Amino acid sequence: MASLTEVAIAILRENDRGTYTVPTKGLYPFQWNWDSCLTALGQRHFDEDRAWLEIETLFAHQWPCGMVPHIVFHQPDDGYFPGPDIWATNRPVPTSGITQPPVAGFALKRLYDLAKDRQTATARARALLAKVAAWHRWFYATRDPAGEGLVAIIHPWEAGRDNSIDWDTPFERVPTEGIAPYTRRDTQHADPAHRPTKAQYDRYLWLVEHFRSLNWDTAKLHDASPFQVVDPGFNAILIRACADLADLAEALGDAALAAENRSFAAKGQAAMESLWSERDGQYLCRDRVAGALIESASVGGLLAAFCAIPASRAARIAASIDRHGTRFPVASHSPQDPRYDGKRYWRGPVWLVVNYMIADGLARAGQEDAAARISAASLDLIRESGFAEYYDPQTGEPLGGGRFTWTAAMVLEFLRQEG
Ligand code: GLC
Repeated sequence: MASLTEVAIAILRENDRGTYTVPTKGLYPFQWNWDSCLTALGQRHFDEDRAWLEIETLFAHQWPCGMVPHIVFHQPDDGYFPGPDIWATNRPVPTSGITQPPVAGFALKRLYDLAKDRQTATARARALLAKVAAWHRWFYATRDPAGEGLVAIIHPWEAGRDNSIDWDTPFERVPTEGIAPYTRRDTQHADPAHRPTKAQYDRYLWLVEHFRSLNWDTAKLHDASPFQVVDPGFNAILIRACADLADLAEALGDAALAAENRSFAAKGQAAMESLWSERDGQYLCRDRVAGALIESASVGGLLAAFCAIPASRAARIAASIDRHGTRFPVASHSPQDPRYDGKRYWRGPVWLVVNYMIADGLARAGQEDAAARISAASLDLIRESGFAEYYDPQTGEPLGGGRFTWTAAMVLEFLRQEG
């Protein structure tokens, strides 16, 4: 029988399209931003050169303003909606017009730190450094216009947690009238009961059409969006990426970039405290348009532990990993919430990438036991249910797409920590 490592590597190879990796065949036939950066961390275990290339390909499609798009449509494929014709971003190689969690700075530092080929790592990290820094600068310039230290997402797809309960209330402000008729493709590849609803899709598309009507001028979109949400998980990823990029810049002798990113991280860390909810024992999203915290105990507020947070907060987060009493941590939403749905995408299921980042953050914060519990349970889940896109936290049932790239990459990372 093939070992977990062998299966994981086989999946990464199978989904490799030469210079980028698709998340899975059929459902997601292009390159996704945060998928690729996390995928590189898996690839480095058997092919360092290929790992660097994964991130380099993504950054070859960075916009002149600094934004790195959430999808790069390398080749036409009818199996996915909305495709390049709907986005109409007018790029040399078509891309979407929104972004995704900026995990690149973190991935870059990890690749660099652990690379066996030091000379190549130095050259390739150096070439990527300024590009990642430009992305970070873009975030604070366009998504934090009031200079609070925290950035907003303007579309749920940017969070990477597409249909989280976090977005339900702010979504009420997004209209559905006037959108062009469309046919979804995702529900042809996966069970519709495990995917976002039609009402949500209408709003996803309304936002895309609205941004398109503003010619994808990223300097204007934040203020023009009826959806502006400050997500603690997203901000934690950005803050961690800034801190990691600062360390990397220092190691590579770029003092100015190091200082700039250090200051983004420090300001973000301080501002993060405004999202803490003592009652929930976690961080919450803030609806920037309404100026209020969103009462929704999602995993976004636990993922906050990925950046440096006060020790007392990390302890509360560690204690809540199993709070839901689910068989497998970490549920993407609290089962105590009546809106929880253990099979529907980001409204309950477990996702290995999120487990990986929470475990990493908790270990750094001194919560080793909770981190080890997440790693061990993640591997148990794979042994029981295979390499799916996401899983029911109660039953462990594999859900969504199969032979999934970033799940395989995370397995290689978890196995390395165990070994
Ligand atoms: C889904 C996920 C998103 C991911 C993409 C590709 O849209 O919600 O986070 O990047 O699939 O795997």
